[in-house]
Amino acid sequence: MSRVLSGIQPSGQLTLGNYIGAMKNFVKLQETEECFFMVVDLHAITVPQEPAALSEQTEALAALYIAAGIDPSKASVFIQSHVRAHAELGWLFTTLANMGELERMTQFKDKAAGKESVGAGLFVYPTLMAADILIYHADLIPVGDDQKQHIELTRDLTQRFNSRFGEYFKTPEPYIHKVGARIMSLDDASKKMSKSNPNPGSFIALLDPIDVIRKKIARATTDSGMEVRFDPANKPEVSNLMSIYSHCADLTLPEIEERYQGQGYGSFKKDLAEAVISVIEPLQARYHEIRESGEIHQILKQGAEKASNIADRTLAEVKERMGFLLPRG
Ligand code: TYM
Repeated sequence: MSRVLSGIQPSGQLTLGNYIGAMKNFVKLQETEECFFMVVDLHAITVPQEPAALSEQTEALAALYIAAGIDPSKASVFIQSHVRAHAELGWLFTTLANMGELERMTQFKDKAAGKESVGAGLFVYPTLMAADILIYHADLIPVGDDQKQHIELTRDLTQRFNSRFGEYFKTPEPYIHKVGARIMSLDDASKKMSKSNPNPGSFIALLDPIDVIRKKIARATTDSGMEVRFDPANKPEVSNLMSIYSHCADLTLPEIEERYQGQGYGSFKKDLAEAVISVIEPLQARYHEIRESGEIHQILKQGAEKASNIADRTLAEVKERMGFLLPRG
């Protein structure tokens, strides 16, 4: 059995991109592997958050994990800040990283572009992510394509730690879909679907009202021509919609091409909307039940206890290897 670890930031609305790129694999992996899934609130504060909104979004995201199909009897679900060792190991890893390698992170470059002042937390963000992963000795990290570079940095830091302080950590592997690893905006397939896009028509939020989802898909940009064909280079918009369809309806890309041969975009988009809704509608119903029941707090408590047991042991071992004087007596 491999150990699996991943996290999602509670910064605003969760999108269909997060669901397809990350959560869907979380739900799959919990059946066969030992899984830890976090709400990464310490990462969310690398950009300013309203305190009241942060706690609400943190609880909402934890409930969404369960609503999406994560079973707390199979996987540990917890809040990153409830396991205090993350912040401490994050600092230790920050001291192992170089400015140059952090400056090369494309997510940092994108977020910092055009800004006069950039938070230091945003810069060292990947070292906390490395700590998140290594603190559980995780083997597999299910993420979307945009996190691949952060995992590569984690792999470099793993080797650096091992060569300086003795072989201790294993090198984690990213676990990424072949299709749907990067779901693109509905209004522009050259951009990643993102909750921070100012145009709400560009993304589908998991908690969008159902009629809004229908409208957003009806308005989604399509390429010229009318053929439903998977060809990301020449038909990026339709290829993106096909990836979404493939995940929501459990159909392969050739099956979709065959189904809509000679039919144009109209019926394809209508069926796509229904496929997306068939995933999101039951998820929303479960989400509201979970929020009303208040059961999430007990789930998070148990998750944090299990995670802390492992995390505290790793932190103690790392500190000993690094030469910290440990308290005695
Ligand atoms: P975050 O919160 O930005 O995104 C959460 C997950 O969703 C994936 N994702 C997408 N996948 C496909 N298409 C999209 N348009 C799309 N948008 C987002 C992301 O790749 C991610 O898997 N740094 C991480 C959180 C994190 C983490 C970790 C992940 C913190 N510590 C340790 C793994 C292991 C992040 O900001 O994800």
